[in-house]
Amino acid sequence: MFPTPEVRSVHYEKVYEPSEDSFLLLDCFEEEKPYLSTKFTDKTSSPVVVEIGTGSGIVTTFIQQNILPQGIYIATDVNPHACRAVLDTAKVNAAHSIDTCQMSLTSAIRGNSVDVLVFNPPYVPADDVPAIPTTEDDETWLDLALCGGPEGMDVTWKVLDELDSTLSQQGAAYILFCARNKPDEVQEKMRARGWVVTEVLKRKAGWEVLSILRITRQ
Ligand SMILES: C[S@@+](CC[C@H](N)C(=O)[O-])C[C@H]1O[C@@H](n2cnc3c(N)ncnc32)[C@H](O)[C@@H]1O
Repeated sequence: MFPTPEVRSVHYEKVYEPSEDSFLLLDCFEEEKPYLSTKFTDKTSSPVVVEIGTGSGIVTTFIQQNILPQGIYIATDVNPHACRAVLDTAKVNAAHSIDTCQMSLTSAIRGNSVDVLVFNPPYVPADDVPAIPTTEDDETWLDLALCGGPEGMDVTWKVLDELDSTLSQQGAAYILFCARNKPDEVQEKMRARGWVVTEVLKRKAGWEVLSILRITRQ
């Protein structure tokens, strides 16, 4: 079992605290290490790993340290406090080659350049997806971590709909769902669009059932 990165000095009133979903992603990547190591076996090139909505940075730091140390890492978040937190977490864990950029989803990432895409989205069903605050000291940044619209899928579908122009040819996306997101229906829809979809992990976490799908091209 690989060590869990240390997360220090994160202001949890503004940045998502590592939780069951974050730890499920760590377990997922531990399980996926043989698959990813084989896929990106070429020691002369570095896979581009992008985590959308990095929060504390625990997931990106874990992958860099334990799964794909040769990767180039960009940890994004729309929340500026999270962008600072990931740099702190990377530093505390001596995880080099992690950079951050504040953006919505993958809006500033070059098309078809992402080899590994990771997203633990705001998946909780809620009336609306909150508006993005306009000032750093706004009290509502944390709401963006949770509320995903009526089925908790508003933000996730934006990423799924853009996957073809985000992933490289050999790219793989890892996306987390709760049962209320209807991940079985998502699998069917993505397969109908020609994607290969594999459920990597599924686990009961409190009253939620969380799962992670790996999505790749044929
Ligand atoms: C459930 S949290 C996951 C945090 C972290 N990845 C983890 O697993 O602990 C969701 C994250 O997505 C971010 N987020 C929400 N909407 C976003 C958007 N449109 N673009 C980028 N990040 C977003 C939130 O700020 C939050 O950090």
